[in-house]
Amino acid sequence: MKTELIKVGAKNKKSVIFKASNLIRAGEVVAFPTETVYGLGANAFNENAVAKIFIAKGRPADNPLIVHIFDINQLKDLVEEIPLNAKKLMKEFWPGPLTIILKKSSKVPSIVTAGLDSVAVRMPRDKIALDLIKQSNFPIAAPSANSSTKPSPTNAQHVLNDLNGKIPLILDGGKCKVGLESTVISLVGEVPTILRPGKITPKQIEKVIGQVRVHSTNSEKNENLANGVAPLSPGMKYKHYSPKAELILILPKKDFDFNGELKKLKLKGKVGVLSFTKKIGSNENNICEEEICFERNLNKMAHELFDCLREFDKKQMDFIVVEGVSEKEMGLALMNRLKKAASKIF
Ligand code: TXA
Ligand code: MG
Repeated sequence: MKTELIKVGAKNKKSVIFKASNLIRAGEVVAFPTETVYGLGANAFNENAVAKIFIAKGRPADNPLIVHIFDINQLKDLVEEIPLNAKKLMKEFWPGPLTIILKKSSKVPSIVTAGLDSVAVRMPRDKIALDLIKQSNFPIAAPSANSSTKPSPTNAQHVLNDLNGKIPLILDGGKCKVGLESTVISLVGEVPTILRPGKITPKQIEKVIGQVRVHSTNSEKNENLANGVAPLSPGMKYKHYSPKAELILILPKKDFDFNGELKKLKLKGKVGVLSFTKKIGSNENNICEEEICFERNLNKMAHELFDCLREFDKKQMDFIVVEGVSEKEMGLALMNRLKKAASKIF
């Protein structure tokens, strides 16, 4: 299959959205930008179309998808009821990078929810995404538009690199504003539980609905898997965000000397470094090939992270060493992705 990539601009927007929505309505898949990462979408009510998403990505069938809507009214076909907490969160954070898990309606095909009796819903903020959903006239089921296990795509080129020849169309809306996937909160159990941290922080959510639980990814990855316990969010058990290079995450400690820690590793091979605090002067010290510094800017790190991992892979780094950040605000989401991507954590 030939994959077409179309840059969406003011002039061609209407006709491109029309073309993309026709594909969606015909049971095809289309990649499109959202404010978080690019998504690979299909009509959520068309099982065959949704199956194409799993095939293109190589995604395990037991990992459910997020259903994207442009209008609250679309929820009536997706969920049984909208609890008060959900209404409050939607009012505050939609359209935006928050996904809410609710009890599903019987109309949602089980391929979308991987057989679960809950469904994840989100109203994205990106205008192209909203227009596409509106014009398609269906809720759109869409995971991130990367190959399974690769870092999520934050520009159209990332999508093309992973899915070229596997999907008919990619809408290029430029770089994603946030760069990390949405916060996922489940309102199905007794206590609202954040399953995946993101741009919308636990603190912001607690201001709206009171106390929430934050599900610990790493205990899930390590302990539950070892004990054969079913993960709360199926997506969490899989290898994620993994560049080809070995990613080494250095946790921030008191009186932290990242440069010193990096030297101690005595890595042999090409090393790429992502530092958070200050430049280590990589070349002078001959510790690494290339260093990108985020100058204590969490949003910048989030915005660039996946692109940096992909760029380092292109440059065939053997190791990517990342300076970890404190798990506060956006730092919680960043460390969640980094811990999942890391093969070693010091
Ligand atoms: O920002 C985002 O959320 C992007 C854009 C495209 O919207 N989408 C995205 O989708 O990151 P995906 O499929 O890569 O991640 C969705 C996560 C997975 O970990 C999945 O297991 C979880 O949400 N999930 C989906 N439905 C669920 C459900 N019913 N119960 C628990 N977890 C669910
Ligand atoms: Mg994903």
